[in-house]
Amino acid sequence: HTIDMELEAIEKGGYEHFMLKEIFEQSKSITASMRGRVVADKHRLHLGGLTEYFNRLMSADRIMIVACGTSWHAGLVAEYLFEEFARVPVEVEYASEFRYRNPVIRENDVVIAISQSGETADTLAAIELAKSKGAIIFGVCNVVGASIPRATQAGAYIHAGPEIGVASTKAFTGQITVLTMMALMLAHRKGTISESKFREFLAELEKIPAKVEQALKLNDQIKYISDVFKDARNFLYLGRGYNFPVALEGALKLKEISYIHAEGYPAAEMKHGPIALIDEEMPVVFIATADSSYEKVVSNIQEVKARRGKVIAIVTEGDTQIKNIADHVIEIPKTPEALTPLISVIPLQLLSYHVAVMRGCNVDQPRNLAKSVTVE
Ligand code: G6P
Repeated sequence: HTIDMELEAIEKGGYEHFMLKEIFEQSKSITASMRGRVVADKHRLHLGGLTEYFNRLMSADRIMIVACGTSWHAGLVAEYLFEEFARVPVEVEYASEFRYRNPVIRENDVVIAISQSGETADTLAAIELAKSKGAIIFGVCNVVGASIPRATQAGAYIHAGPEIGVASTKAFTGQITVLTMMALMLAHRKGTISESKFREFLAELEKIPAKVEQALKLNDQIKYISDVFKDARNFLYLGRGYNFPVALEGALKLKEISYIHAEGYPAAEMKHGPIALIDEEMPVVFIATADSSYEKVVSNIQEVKARRGKVIAIVTEGDTQIKNIADHVIEIPKTPEALTPLISVIPLQLLSYHVAVMRGCNVDQPRNLAKSVTVE
């Protein structure tokens, strides 16, 4: 038994939990996802696993993304990426809903299945269904040789390394990294992105790991904020555009490991319901980076403050406006809007981690949850 415990301590590499280790591994795991694929100084982007069926991707009338849990959130980010850059319509579906509603699938549809474990039963069943209707399936998985990568015709591994913590962290950023590369590769070949924009994004992608490293330095500040809010009974997470799926993911992380009720919402939808929940007891996490919806999100923050809600804001370094209105401001490095989720999710992962630890929860193995759900 002691040997097991020592072994586990070694595997945790000096961290108290696998989840914390995996959060801190993200600059390395994102680098691994891009290795040999992004070569910015040569203006090259190549995902070998897509080659054989790339024509199907080029001629796709529509991309359907199927996934569950955190992987579904990565799919939502991908929707924004593929539509913005490759100008192809995207639908993101919970695999469990997709498979049971007799979906319309045509031969010119491409399905992207996202799964860390590659074993999720609903995702696998959704793939089999789409395949039987003639669609081509691309997999975005982490575990090499798992059932989903074997069931798909093409795809790209994320190469994030083993993820042990039940709450997914480095797999999420790995999935987004791979989906970003897929969207850019498609956009480049289709000519829906200019050569200069394409080159700029490759260069920006290469800078991501260093920015993740920088965001991880916020750990102590986030620990402090976690202590302030650890006894809250509810949390609201709000973001827009690329940060909307990040809001969903932040709320999911908190629910999963701290058992605090949390909801993620697109910030503009606040007025259609969630605003009724705001009082001085309600912490609201805003992802309010300097992007195209910044001013609108600032007004949402003002609306929350006018109702005495507590605001924790993730902002871009150097922000001056939100500093004056939010209760707590967490500054993250600047990156193009489309790459923001890779950075803005980091403080949310850390927040959920510290809150859960402070509440005495079993962070790596939360109650009632499984790392991979191989049953319906
Ligand atoms: C479970 C895990 C989640 C994960 C989801 C999808 O619910 O606890 O962390 O996001 O399954 O898993 P997959 O392996 O398909 O990404």
